Amino acid sequence: MEELAMKKIYEVVDEKRIFTDKTDLYAYGFDASIHHAMPDVVIKPESSNEVEKIVKIANEFGIPVVARGAGTALCGQAVPIFGGIILDMTGMNSIKEIHIEDLYCIVEPGVVYAKLNEAIAKYGFFFPPSPGSGDVCTIGGMISANASGMRAIKYGATRDYVLGLEIVFPHGKVRFGSKTLKNSAGYQIERLMVGSEGTLGIITEATLRISPLPKKRAVALASFDSVVKAGEGVAKIIGKGMIPSALEIMDSVCIQAVNKAMGIGLPDAEALLLIEVDGKPSEVRDSIEKITKILENEASKIEFTDDEEEMTNLWKGRKGVLPSLSRYGDDKVSVSLADDMCVPISKIPHAIKKFQEIAKKYGIIVGTYGHAGDGNLHTKVLINPTDEESWKRAEKAVDEIYKAVHNLGGIASGEHGIGITKAPWINGDVETMEKVKKALDPKNIMNPGKMEQWKEGIIAFLRYK
Ligand code: LAC
Ligand code: ZN
Repeated sequence: MEELAMKKIYEVVDEKRIFTDKTDLYAYGFDASIHHAMPDVVIKPESSNEVEKIVKIANEFGIPVVARGAGTALCGQAVPIFGGIILDMTGMNSIKEIHIEDLYCIVEPGVVYAKLNEAIAKYGFFFPPSPGSGDVCTIGGMISANASGMRAIKYGATRDYVLGLEIVFPHGKVRFGSKTLKNSAGYQIERLMVGSEGTLGIITEATLRISPLPKKRAVALASFDSVVKAGEGVAKIIGKGMIPSALEIMDSVCIQAVNKAMGIGLPDAEALLLIEVDGKPSEVRDSIEKITKILENEASKIEFTDDEEEMTNLWKGRKGVLPSLSRYGDDKVSVSLADDMCVPISKIPHAIKKFQEIAKKYGIIVGTYGHAGDGNLHTKVLINPTDEESWKRAEKAVDEIYKAVHNLGGIASGEHGIGITKAPWINGDVETMEKVKKALDPKNIMNPGKMEQWKEGIIAFLRYK
């Protein structure tokens, strides 16, 4: 980075919040993806004014700027592949306003999802999108990825809760959206920012819709002797007009991995469905019984509980799938490849069957689990990451997986985003995306090289040496 640019940065930010040490730069080169690259400098801004000043300098000198929250991105969104500035947004973490009667709150981007929910739970409210990384991930990252998770089937994704944003674009700080629940008053640039992965501007404040917490919940656990039957069960539940608050699937690879790593004692089945319903106490009982009845022909066993401790335990098993898979095989770890495709709900059984065939063909282990109720599947590819030949096979398998998903009418990502790892399978017209990007970021400094701009293979900038 140019010396003059650095000098100007030191003029606008306290040096205590500027990091250039090699170890810091190395650590900030990771997110939760397979990629790694070193930034030139890490800055921890304190205010939107500071962000505006930094972005202005970066734009003047043509320096890449990559904003990051907790770094839980799974596709390389927060990896600074062309170096430059990392903006660590976790210092901007205040919950500025909570307006229960108006159903909104205003937060800085570094607020952790779980902390926001803690703060509004005392009023009986919550911010529903619920990503798997919710205990650590930040609101800014969630908006940038359009994150969601287990509850999206009933409550939607982050997109559905963004009412307004303050954004720093290369041309300056602006506001879009409102504090009102409805808004037909102009271009909804705040919506354009959802899922933009830092490639257009930096989110410095968010106005978010909140919802009342459901009073009661219950969870059913259904075992199946084939994943196809489990997938058919999912389509049947939805087809009968039931919308559970979660409808999760786990295949046998995932079940065994969880039992081995966590000793939770999940039933030893070919597939499991974990189904949660929520609402008024009277409705919950009725819904869970109806669902049990709907599955009676497909499931080999089904039981339900509304005991808080038992439900927490079942959810622990589901939430532990990802780390458990990494401890599944001797020299194998789970790498984030083909990790969150989305297909129309009725295509779930076809998709899972196809993934198993592809895994067999390429001699790799693929564990499938995820939010089956909204068609969003997670497949984790297990390989030895130090073996080049394994990567080559995995890459071919991944390509086939995405082609299969596409043929079933699906897309490459339901909630984790594109970054580098999914760039070849991005959805929509890339030329139009590039036009938008050029209009807002003419010097291409905002997280350059990602999404529609990434034209190389995905086994690039590998974190594994
Ligand atoms: C999950 C994350 C990986 O659902 O999306 O576990
Ligand atoms: Zn997920």
